Amino acid sequence: MGADRWTEVDDYVSRLLAPHDEALEAALRASGEAGLPEIQVSPPQGQLLTLLARSLGAKAILEFGTLGGYSTIWLGRGLAEGGRLITLEADPDYAEVARGNIDRAGLAGVVDLRVGQALDVLPGLEAEGVGPFDLTFIDADKAHTPEYFAWALEHARPGGLIVADNVVRDGALVDLEDLSPTIEAQRRFHEMLAIEPRVDATTIQTVGSKGYDGFTIVLVGGAAASTGSDA
Ligand code: SAH
Ligand code: DHB
Ligand code: MG
Repeated sequence: MGADRWTEVDDYVSRLLAPHDEALEAALRASGEAGLPEIQVSPPQGQLLTLLARSLGAKAILEFGTLGGYSTIWLGRGLAEGGRLITLEADPDYAEVARGNIDRAGLAGVVDLRVGQALDVLPGLEAEGVGPFDLTFIDADKAHTPEYFAWALEHARPGGLIVADNVVRDGALVDLEDLSPTIEAQRRFHEMLAIEPRVDATTIQTVGSKGYDGFTIVLVGGAAASTGSDA
């Protein structure tokens, strides 16, 4: 049992619980035709993003790493009435594809796509006074996950969530001989979480159509913060 079965199960779950409509289908088609890498979240993961946003009653969402806007559409569909989503993408060509996909999904009015290296764009967002965010999805260049998390934490509302994708990477997270910047960053991220009194967090390993990976879910101002039980 392996990757083929993981994909079959993802397909099964997708078909029953997270089916594509025309806009999601069109987004993948347009992204494929434009030659974007096929590294978007899976449909079940996309559905998770929608459910988290809805359960938070999210009115402000921040996303690092738009690609073709596939995860953006799932997130945008979870927004509450009047909500807004800011998504950050470094590659202008990807951003152009994303704009079309977001537009076709009817979300152009609620999605604010900013093009540039996230670390360069953040100070401008800060100056605009954006946030606080109910939900942040960190899914850009993995070497900067800790920096994106630090910023997201400062701009999260109490009770908000921060989700980071691709933190396990085939288990490389615990392979101390793997010193690649992307993996070291995931360990640094976990070490930050371990000592950060304002959050409670966990990491869930996943298998599926995207192989073996995992994501971290961080609750800002969780039980430890409010009861002072870690003090
Ligand atoms: N969230 C998307 C997938 C994102 S893939 C989805 O699931 O549909 C990662 C994206 O991050 C790529 O599009 C890449 O161009 C972008 N990226 C890489 N480095 C970045 C940076 N420094 N700032 C912003 N985006 C970046
Ligand atoms: C890959 C997967 C991702 O979810 C991502 O955000 C970036 C890269 C990958 O499989 O290479
Ligand atoms: Mg990802």
